[in-house]
Amino acid sequence: MATWRDTPFTRRLGIELPIVQGPFGGGLSSAALAAVVSEGGGLGSYGAHVLSGTEIRALVAELRALTSRPFNINLWVPLPGERELSLSAAEFAAESERLRPLRESLGVPPPVSPGEGPGAFVAQDFDAQLEAVIEARPPVASFVFGPPPAAAIAEMKRRGIVTIGTATTVDEAVALEAAGMDLIVATGSDAGGHRVSFLRRAEESLVGTFSLVPQVADAVRVPVIAAGGIADGRGVVAALALGASAVQIGTAFLACHESNACEAHKAALTGPEARRTALTRAFTGRLARGLRNRAMVELEAAGEAAPYPARAWFMSPLNQAARAAGRAEAMALWAGQAASLARRRPAAECLAALVSEVEASR
Ligand SMILES: Cc1cc2nc3c(=O)[nH]c(=O)nc-3n(C[C@H](O)[C@H](O)[C@H](O)COP(=O)(O)O)c2cc1C
Repeated sequence: MATWRDTPFTRRLGIELPIVQGPFGGGLSSAALAAVVSEGGGLGSYGAHVLSGTEIRALVAELRALTSRPFNINLWVPLPGERELSLSAAEFAAESERLRPLRESLGVPPPVSPGEGPGAFVAQDFDAQLEAVIEARPPVASFVFGPPPAAAIAEMKRRGIVTIGTATTVDEAVALEAAGMDLIVATGSDAGGHRVSFLRRAEESLVGTFSLVPQVADAVRVPVIAAGGIADGRGVVAALALGASAVQIGTAFLACHESNACEAHKAALTGPEARRTALTRAFTGRLARGLRNRAMVELEAAGEAAPYPARAWFMSPLNQAARAAGRAEAMALWAGQAASLARRRPAAECLAALVSEVEASR
């Protein structure tokens, strides 16, 4: 039965399947993964949060060369105070000390302070990223941690870029619609990666996908994309039944060959430890869901993390070292609660399985 493909989402984008491959920040996206999913009729995404404006322009050109179908570029909107965050020398030393055991176990030298001025820990300039997205004009641009500035939304509309906002609560979905976003991702607390709340603290905005999606679908008129815990055809069918126009799948695509997750991360996603995820601020200073491994337990025991982006800045070389050494117990293993359903396979196979499972269930 093919009618499940015909939704306000697929009509808006002119694509075949109501399936979005979720963007991955932290360097885990790949152009190959996004292109395979777009070529297969879904919407491939690339998490460009870690890229400079120049890198974003090159990425959009690369994706255009790989696929003639719509694709999505994702950015993180800075939350209030984030760009200004600065640590005193004493705070810097305390944070460094909390991370010392993990740092030493990875053979990483102690960090050198970037200074106490505002912006010291900010990796990329959001305004430059946004300008690059507007100029490069990808078919779709998605945002987390709130809507981008009103002038940017107006400019993206003028240039024909479809915009997607991301909500963790009904109130956030209503705010994103009011800001003019074309489509809204409703991301339940089951999802892998960061909780992207922007109206209240993430800890006060934890709503599961099954509860969130129908309430958001009732509260807004724009098409809703369900995210969090969807990893096979049953999840797609359920999300559409709850009022979603499409699904956004992260963890199941992260395990696929084309994603930029490392070997140790993919092995953990498909091993027995995938049944145990938890939300933590330990890796970046922001609440995020990953497998509860040794690093998560030990970092939490070491005390409260410095706020984002400082903790993320401190952890970046440690994560790189853990990745290079293939040490799954020492890195952030981002994963959603449905991780056990993920399989290691080519992304085209994952997409084809989703389609055939949905069609077999109808
Ligand atoms: C490793 C990882 C990184 C992520 N980074 C981003 C990101 O930068 N931007 C974003 O909008 N969503 C990000 N997400 C969320 C996914 O795009 C998707 O919405 C989520 O994974 C869906 O839940 P699931 O993992 O249960 O499928 C990330 C998820 C993971 C697992």
